[in-house]
Amino acid sequence: PAEATATAHAKVILLGEHAVVHGAPAIALPVHGLALTATVTRTDRPLWIDSVLYRGPIAAAPELLAAPVTAIVETLRHVGAPATGRAVRIDGEIPAERGLGSSAAVAAAIAAAVARSCGVELDAAERFALIQAAERVAHGTPSGLDARSVVSDTPVWFQAGQARELPSALGGVFVIADTGLRGRTREAVAGVAALKAAEPDRVAGILSRIQECTQAAVDDLAGDDRAALGARMSQVHALLRELTVSNPHLDRLVASAEAAGALGAKLTGGGRGGCVLALAETAQNAETIAAAMRENGAERTWMLRPEET
Ligand code: PMV
Repeated sequence: PAEATATAHAKVILLGEHAVVHGAPAIALPVHGLALTATVTRTDRPLWIDSVLYRGPIAAAPELLAAPVTAIVETLRHVGAPATGRAVRIDGEIPAERGLGSSAAVAAAIAAAVARSCGVELDAAERFALIQAAERVAHGTPSGLDARSVVSDTPVWFQAGQARELPSALGGVFVIADTGLRGRTREAVAGVAALKAAEPDRVAGILSRIQECTQAAVDDLAGDDRAALGARMSQVHALLRELTVSNPHLDRLVASAEAAGALGAKLTGGGRGGCVLALAETAQNAETIAAAMRENGAERTWMLRPEET
């Protein structure tokens, strides 16, 4: 084909970040409103990338584009096509390094579009492997949660590398608030590992309480128990604080969301920056909560309706 496209979207972690690194489950929600499209055209030039961050040959692309570059190169290799003669354009933007899955989403969109431009439709396993290859270059040792959730149309239950769709009848509205600060997932993950080595019993206790919340949330989602889910989110934020992965900016946004009437709020993703996720009973509450978080330092907010996830 002369031109091929594919899309992927952002994700947020509802519950279970960090615990998932230590074998516990996590639940992620797709954010369809924040999406990317990759468009691949054939050219007579070397491999080329065209995004808001950089436009030029991939050979000279900045380090920040390690994930998309790896996705292009590895996908062409996977389908047995030569590493030349394609231009990849990325439209749309998911803020990078906010725990929203931007690197996995860009890799997911690129892998599917590049393969399609070679006449190949990737299956889920092939696409997952290519996203993970890109994520490893960008982030080290990803659990695979992002790679699963940026291409899922439904909430995802993820544990020990395995993902499944999670039924949800949840109503209400989630508010996502961006601190504007880069999340430091790698450091935060290392911080938890160090704490676990120093205080194994205490950390095991925290991780198992997070796990209990994640497990209980399955029924909250299925039964639309917003109050229970909100309470669990706030409880898990306190546990993540104990794991040292929060920071004053995140704590302030969580407190301001709760004071503005949120059913619950927590950091989402790797932490030490990135985003907060709050649950509101109604769209009107969500507006009030979003405004409160912006007044307390959030750079941007987005609404996420659970029925769209
Ligand atoms: O910052 P994010 O959304 O990529 O999430 C990291 C989630 C962790 O559990 C902290 C790490 C992982 O690989 O699952």
